Amino acid sequence: MIFTVAIDGPAAAGKGTISRAVAAQFGFAHLDTGLLYRAVGAKGGDPVRAAQTLSDADLARPDLRTLAAGQAASRVATIPEVRAALVAFQRAFARREGGAVLDGRDIGTVICPEAEVKLYVTASAQVRAHRRWLEVGGDEAQVLAEVIERDKRDAERAVAPLKPAPDALVLDTSEMTVEEAVDAARAVIAARIEGRS
Ligand code: CDP
Repeated sequence: MIFTVAIDGPAAAGKGTISRAVAAQFGFAHLDTGLLYRAVGAKGGDPVRAAQTLSDADLARPDLRTLAAGQAASRVATIPEVRAALVAFQRAFARREGGAVLDGRDIGTVICPEAEVKLYVTASAQVRAHRRWLEVGGDEAQVLAEVIERDKRDAERAVAPLKPAPDALVLDTSEMTVEEAVDAARAVIAARIEGRS
């Protein structure tokens, strides 16, 4: 079965948590596309060359989840040639046999506009910053400032900006527990699978 779940949304909205949970429930493969941009940013040197030569070792670096890596990712993600170098891999992953969940910023709009399910997962900036702060620690006000800065850069870039696909279901998780958000996503996917068979 070819079946793609595209999960987009702003920084620290809970896309990864929801994606991992529904991928496990439905037996789909999962790709965190943010990790590709984080690895390109962390590699240093020419970002276009870094994107063209990205290896498994680059993706396994232990420092990709830091705030600094997030900022570096959103800077290299504005470069059209960097994005172009990562398209084929993501598209092939999305349409692989057995189903796939991809989370990022442009999955439903650019990478896989034909995705069977498109979710745009969001929450208020304060709630998102608080969740990220629980993961990374440090100064919560600084985490909030970085979340806002990254969202602005992602939404305002010329190529593949952060925005919901016209046919995406918007899931605002500000007032939801993780379980409620995962359940909501699961229900949408199950209904779509049901509708196809
Ligand atoms: O986990 P979090 O939401 O904080 O970030 P991420 O998904 O790991 O993405 C890091 C950065 O990579 C984002 O701020 C974007 O600039 C970029 N990105 C992108 O441009 N396109 C994607 N499909 C995924 C990430």
